Amino acid sequence: MKKFSKRTAIVTGGASGIGGGCAKKLASEGTTVLIVDINKATAKKTVEYILEHGGSAEYLIGDVSEENVSKQMVDKAIDMTGRLDFLIQNAYSHTSDSGSAIETTSDEWDTGIGLLTKALFFGAKYSVPAMTESGNVTGINTEWSGFGLRNGEPPKQNIGRIINISSVHGIVQAPKSLVYASGKAAVIGLTRQMAIDFGELGITVNAIAPGHIVTERGQKAWEKSGDKKGFHLFELQYPVRRTGTPEDIASSVSFLCSDEASFITGTTLTVDGGLSIQLQENIVMRLKDYISENPEIKTPGNKKKN
Ligand SMILES: NC(=O)c1ccc[n+]([C@@H]2O[C@H](COP(=O)([O-])OP(=O)(O)OC[C@H]3O[C@@H](n4cnc5c(N)ncnc54)[C@H](O)[C@@H]3O)[C@@H](O)[C@H]2O)c1
Repeated sequence: MKKFSKRTAIVTGGASGIGGGCAKKLASEGTTVLIVDINKATAKKTVEYILEHGGSAEYLIGDVSEENVSKQMVDKAIDMTGRLDFLIQNAYSHTSDSGSAIETTSDEWDTGIGLLTKALFFGAKYSVPAMTESGNVTGINTEWSGFGLRNGEPPKQNIGRIINISSVHGIVQAPKSLVYASGKAAVIGLTRQMAIDFGELGITVNAIAPGHIVTERGQKAWEKSGDKKGFHLFELQYPVRRTGTPEDIASSVSFLCSDEASFITGTTLTVDGGLSIQLQENIVMRLKDYISENPEIKTPGNKKKN
């Protein structure tokens, strides 16, 4: 029996990038996956990949910032297998990016925050009752059975998992990123709130804050720029001297979905190769020689020379 046999997951934005990595990983571990995405071509491709590799998956095309899409996705997951276990809230669009408060329009704020946060509220609103109704998977222990002292009725556990994808941008700030940074910080707050609200139902809610993850989109952009040294500058900023992959995030999602993670809720797991724990002034000192030796690298200070 695979790790997640008989489990059903919804992955929003699961057609490509980090979401695609999560969909493939969960499917390889036995989960039936519903990909919810606005991009039909890539959603279809990822479903085909999963089926070819012996997994089970379908897709639903829709914008998760619309309430009816969140309702539809939960209904579809229940139609597929009769149950819902995991909700991975990951969908993202470039329109979520913005400038400072001066440059951002009211519409950009509404659209960006709609996808970054309101979609996550809708997702939970419809998924939690479905998870509760699904109950536990037969044969999977939902009752506390560890050592140590506890009294009273066994609590519910392993009924459901919600994982919200935040970002290091929700923890440390970059310039001119009002909508994205505010949205990603809000994801951490709403994760903690949902953890408090749904813990007694046996549903844990956690966030993941990735560092720079090279997705298909990211790889294309780096290749197009031809800026190998610029990319290496990114790598050098990481204590582990590399950027991340969708699989790095998918592994963390898989862990947080597992029964072993039943006592972890309301937390934000930072998966960033140590990027955000460094003393900033030391990074600058460490990288200054590399930047001055490579003046073609596109930094704001080097712009005039490029
Ligand atoms: N890639 C990174 O470096 C990085 C770093 C930190 C956090 N993140 C977060 O990880 C998540 C995934 O990012 P990514 O880089 O894989 O993005 P991506 O652009 O590669 O993939 C996003 C997916 O979401 C889909 N999508 C866009 N708008 C949607 C909508 N309204 N409804 C449903 N689906 C929609 C896209 O079609 C695409 O398949 C995002 O929440 C992002 O903020 C990414």
